[in-house]
Amino acid sequence: MPAVPAGQSFRPAGSPRWAAGDGLRAAAGLGLRTPHVREVLATRPPVAWFEVHSENYFADGGAALAALDRIRADYPLSLHGVGMSLGSVDPLDRTHLARLARLIARTEPALVSEHLCWSGVGGRHLNDLLPLPYTEEALAHVAARVTEIQETLGRELLVENVSSYVGFADATIPEWEFVAAVARRTGCKLLLDVNNIYVNAVNHGFDPDAYLAAIPRHAVAEIHLAGFDAAGSCLIDTHGARVAPAVWALYERAVARFGPRPTLIEWDLDIPAFAVLQDEAATAQSILDRSHAIAR
Ligand SMILES: [Fe+2]
Repeated sequence: MPAVPAGQSFRPAGSPRWAAGDGLRAAAGLGLRTPHVREVLATRPPVAWFEVHSENYFADGGAALAALDRIRADYPLSLHGVGMSLGSVDPLDRTHLARLARLIARTEPALVSEHLCWSGVGGRHLNDLLPLPYTEEALAHVAARVTEIQETLGRELLVENVSSYVGFADATIPEWEFVAAVARRTGCKLLLDVNNIYVNAVNHGFDPDAYLAAIPRHAVAEIHLAGFDAAGSCLIDTHGARVAPAVWALYERAVARFGPRPTLIEWDLDIPAFAVLQDEAATAQSILDRSHAIAR
């Protein structure tokens, strides 16, 4: 596929519905986690949209998928993948892609995203989102795979920047330029995880605002926020705490740069009461509302 000029979207022939953001307001959403499903079904809380981990719904049927169908009937949905292993040198997992395509057809999500990482090699799968070596070779490799996935799914993919604790000695491209280049080369959109930017900025000693400045405005289709653990010698992206004050401040600067974008609160460890997540979403919403007001 030819490179897509900046500001334009890749739209395969014969694919009428796939534009990222369709049906999803630039509002604060929540990651739907198993402990809260029953409460969401029973109370239908005022949440702008939900995001789920795609792989949790790859089964042919069952209670989880039935619950998702019911929730999807009332809320916009985003599918967030953790198992595609975008950057691996193993062949793309066609079974995984087919299952994702089937879930997309079933749930008609507003957004479909994956991580800019690798999770396995040689047929072995690691339960982690590992950083790529930021080199021209890795860039060409992962861009080709993003293009292949977009063509297979017939829709735009969002790719998310990951947190990391080590870098590669032979990396030649700053992370922010690598992330931006993937979007420019493939026409994919970005799921910018502002917490991951902050965690990496501290762990690797770079300026998080330089990162934001390098990302093309039009490419950002969603933002993630989460909490980290600062108990050790580096920040660990645990998704197990409230969003840190410094990350809220960086998020405000991200919204100022990119404009209001659908923003998700992620919480995966020591999952609290649903009301705590709603409280975090309200904080994000207040920042988005201020941005909307300035834009008017
Ligand atoms: Fe994230």
